[in-house]
Amino acid sequence: VPKVDLQQIVASTITKGSINFDLFAKRQGRMILFCRKGFEITDQHIESLQRHGLSYFIRQSDWGHYLQYAEGKVDQLIDNTDISEEMRSQMLHTVNRKRMDTVLRDPYTPEAIEQSELIVENYVRFILADKSAVKNLFNLASLDAYTYSHALNVCSMSILMAEQLFGDDEKVLLEAGLAGLMHDIGKLKISDEIIRKNGKLTEDEFTEIKKHPGFSEEIIRHHKLSPDIQQAGRFHHENYCGGGYPDNLHGDQIPVLARLVAVVDVYDALTSKRSYKNEIRNIEALKVMHNESRKFDSTLFNCLMHIVLKSPDLVRQFASRRRILCTAS
Ligand SMILES: [Fe+2]
Ligand SMILES: [Fe+2]
Repeated sequence: VPKVDLQQIVASTITKGSINFDLFAKRQGRMILFCRKGFEITDQHIESLQRHGLSYFIRQSDWGHYLQYAEGKVDQLIDNTDISEEMRSQMLHTVNRKRMDTVLRDPYTPEAIEQSELIVENYVRFILADKSAVKNLFNLASLDAYTYSHALNVCSMSILMAEQLFGDDEKVLLEAGLAGLMHDIGKLKISDEIIRKNGKLTEDEFTEIKKHPGFSEEIIRHHKLSPDIQQAGRFHHENYCGGGYPDNLHGDQIPVLARLVAVVDVYDALTSKRSYKNEIRNIEALKVMHNESRKFDSTLFNCLMHIVLKSPDLVRQFASRRRILCTAS
């Protein structure tokens, strides 16, 4: 078996029942085919697997099958730091994309909110388990279909921002994550033609687009999520200096969670532009935002820059402002 094609998996994800991929094991430095696709795993097998403490592998090409198999188990892997962060973030992102399908199919159903909460809970657990997750989550940005990735990116980045600003309070992080995930959900109520249009929008089309924050608020309220999350939906296109939509608010009139989502929202939209090379697009996005920095709450924009650039000096600045922000929320 050529080693390059194989990817290690976590032994604990293999449970009783049939498997839909070939399972390999490494025994005394040699790779062997342990069970073939379709094989029924029994309790005895699992016991023997555990007794020998072997490492397990699957073919790279079976990754999709394995994910399907592991979806129900991903919840127990997310904060297991024995597994490489890259693998966990990949698994998390793939499973979350699948969950996002349900949300986008009909955002009003109880399943939609159930799946949304699972998505956010898993990001929060992942981030709290391993603070270095920052890098991986930011790097996942914009690699796949925009609708999915934008919601998931803004979700995970909002959690990272909230963690940086407010610490490990799980309730706060869940709110931030849900706000990020749901902020554009109202776009589903606007015609596809306008949403997908490349090039300049007509005035009428722009008037249409401007309705999406109100629709987001309505969907979020429908699920009885907190007023903070509702407001993040409604006000994420308001500018700190004024002149945004739909209510033309400015400064502290805009709730802090909406200001946070607004910063992350613009950053993700900019980094998703394919005209930039991977390595420079983060910096380019920050430059563009810096030129329009009046539009953003400066504390929140600094926090974003800190996460992107990882400057230790800024952390101290935030620490002293944390109290102020907490009161503002
Ligand atoms: Fe939006
Ligand atoms: Fe957005």
